[in-house]
Amino acid sequence: MGLGWLLPALILAVVLAVGSQPQEQIPREAHNLNWSKFSGFWYILAVASNTTGFLPSRDKRKLGASVVKVHKTGQLKVVFAFNQSQGCQAHTLLLRKDRKKAVFRNPLRGVQGFRVLSTDYSHGLVYLRLGRAGRTSKTLLLFSRQNTSSFLSMKGFADTCEVLELTDGAAVLPKDASCAHTILP
Ligand SMILES: *[C@@H]1O[C@H](CO)[C@@H](O)[C@H](O)[C@H]1NC(C)=O
Ligand SMILES: *[C@@H]1O[C@H](CO)[C@@H](O)[C@H](O)[C@H]1NC(C)=O
Ligand SMILES: *[C@@H]1O[C@H](CO)[C@@H](O)[C@H](O)[C@H]1NC(C)=O
Ligand SMILES: *[C@@H]1O[C@H](CO)[C@@H](O)[C@H](O)[C@H]1NC(C)=O
Repeated sequence: MGLGWLLPALILAVVLAVGSQPQEQIPREAHNLNWSKFSGFWYILAVASNTTGFLPSRDKRKLGASVVKVHKTGQLKVVFAFNQSQGCQAHTLLLRKDRKKAVFRNPLRGVQGFRVLSTDYSHGLVYLRLGRAGRTSKTLLLFSRQNTSSFLSMKGFADTCEVLELTDGAAVLPKDASCAHTILP
């Protein structure tokens, strides 16, 4: 028997192996998330991003905050407050759910993805993909119902930063709630 078939088969195997490699490793989103339970006011205790300029300089940082609300079926209203370079700013976004995955988006407003990677409803890890097609950034947020973190939630944040290769851009925010409280419902 000739070996003529072997080379095409090998090439095919290599192509399939390369083609099926995920572009990046994203931890799976929380399974069966209850969005009504996840709704409401959250402090943002820590942030990690691969984009510069997401956070102001170290001495100007404050706790962030977010208010999540189920708007209609398949839609979320998310408000974010951060002390950014222009001062304390709130942004309101309406996000629409992906048909298949537990990801919410609003590409026109520059949100390619909002997903909850894990939560026990007192803490949560939120992964954001911001930007326009072709130029996006990745950001991880540590959500907490309280203004203090637990050891485990901070460890979860740090571990996920490593998986997402965001360790260099990670910051725990100072416990100043003056900006966060501007969006208290
Ligand atoms: C989701 O959470 C809400 C609010 O806590 C609760 O009333 C509802 O029963 C939960 N739904 C499910 C399917 O667990
Ligand atoms: C919040 O940001 C503004 C603008 O950068 C800055 O002037 C202010 O000092 C910051 N707040 C704190 C508490 O540093
Ligand atoms: C940030 O991460 C995204 C997603 O992996 C990537 O497309 C982008 O090029 C990165 N940006 C920088 C400045 O490294
Ligand atoms: C954190 O929350 C507790 C309880 O709600 C409050 O007593 C404390 O003043 C808050 N700390 C800051 C820095 O906001």
